Amino acid sequence: MQTIIITWGAGFIGSNFLSKYVLAFPEIQFVNIDMLTYAGNIEKIDLAARNAPNYHFEQVDIRDIDTLRTVYVKYSPTDIIHFAAESHVDNSIRNPRLFTEVNVLGTQNLLDLHREFGLKRFHYISTDEVYGDIPDSGYFTEDTHIEPSSPYSASKAGGDILVQAYGRTFGLDYTITRCSNNYGANQNNISLIPLFISKIQKGEKVPLYGDGSNIRDWLYVEDHCDVIWEVFTRANTGSIYNVGGNNEYTNLEITKILLQVMWKSEDLISFVPDRAWHDKRYAIDASKLKRELGWGPKVDFPEGIARTIWFYNQQ
Ligand SMILES: NC(=O)c1ccc[n+]([C@@H]2O[C@H](COP(=O)([O-])OP(=O)(O)OC[C@H]3O[C@@H](n4cnc5c(N)ncnc54)[C@H](O)[C@@H]3O)[C@@H](O)[C@H]2O)c1
Repeated sequence: MQTIIITWGAGFIGSNFLSKYVLAFPEIQFVNIDMLTYAGNIEKIDLAARNAPNYHFEQVDIRDIDTLRTVYVKYSPTDIIHFAAESHVDNSIRNPRLFTEVNVLGTQNLLDLHREFGLKRFHYISTDEVYGDIPDSGYFTEDTHIEPSSPYSASKAGGDILVQAYGRTFGLDYTITRCSNNYGANQNNISLIPLFISKIQKGEKVPLYGDGSNIRDWLYVEDHCDVIWEVFTRANTGSIYNVGGNNEYTNLEITKILLQVMWKSEDLISFVPDRAWHDKRYAIDASKLKRELGWGPKVDFPEGIARTIWFYNQQ
């Protein structure tokens, strides 16, 4: 019986993933491992999925290999989709060590248990930030060299290359996706879009870093979940895919779109001192994914933003 470990299923992307795939595949067991930190809330997962017989939850810290081992003994998992990573850049600037411990040593624990229990596929959720900055023009391809700027992206790159090394040295069956910025339901409101929506709802000023000219490519979270499933189930072992939304916007443009859709004035914009070494631009070339797996985003930005604002208006 296929039993898939999902790390961090109570977080932003993990909860969207479980809400859909637990119900889509009742014959597959899903084991959600999450420590429920500030960013974790089990209620982010749809009730129907949480009550499904093929959904299981274990509150465990991925840094704790002994407790993790008891979960592997209990469920005899066959595969893992590894979402887990401390993910907020500002937090990584304040506390780099936490990010190395969770994102690198946590991943190491899961890799060692993967070998110890003879699991099959190990899918690692990586990020476009491992490539660092691409200020003016051009796009990251899967061959772009890894040059992370923040302790967050360095720790993600650490996990990314560790997975690859286990592939070469121990024959680990792995796949990796490197995705651009996500937006949508259930995102922690320390991230730009949910934070600004909640401030605009209250008529409060929105704090925009620097001059707001930093550019990000935005992908609707459900599209990210679908491509993770495609790659996990269909890609050849050792495959690495960039994932993007072809939605490049400056942070200032995103802010103006939110204000416009929510019928508020741009007077609410307040420019604040910039983040230390704030990467100027991330831009993904996801043509390999299209070419090899025929995948492309389904939700365009206007539709995605409308759904996202509607979701936070219900909160
Ligand atoms: N959010 C994005 O835009 C984005 C883009 C590309 C890649 N990613 C990657 O996607 C993954 C998920 O990101 P997210 O934004 O959904 O995360 P999130 O911050 O929303 O979720 C964090 C979750 O992890 C849990 N957690 C924290 N520390 C833990 C630990 N030590 N052990 C077990 N659980 C722990 C928390 O309880 C919470 O449920 C990360 O690997 C991130 O790097 C995110």
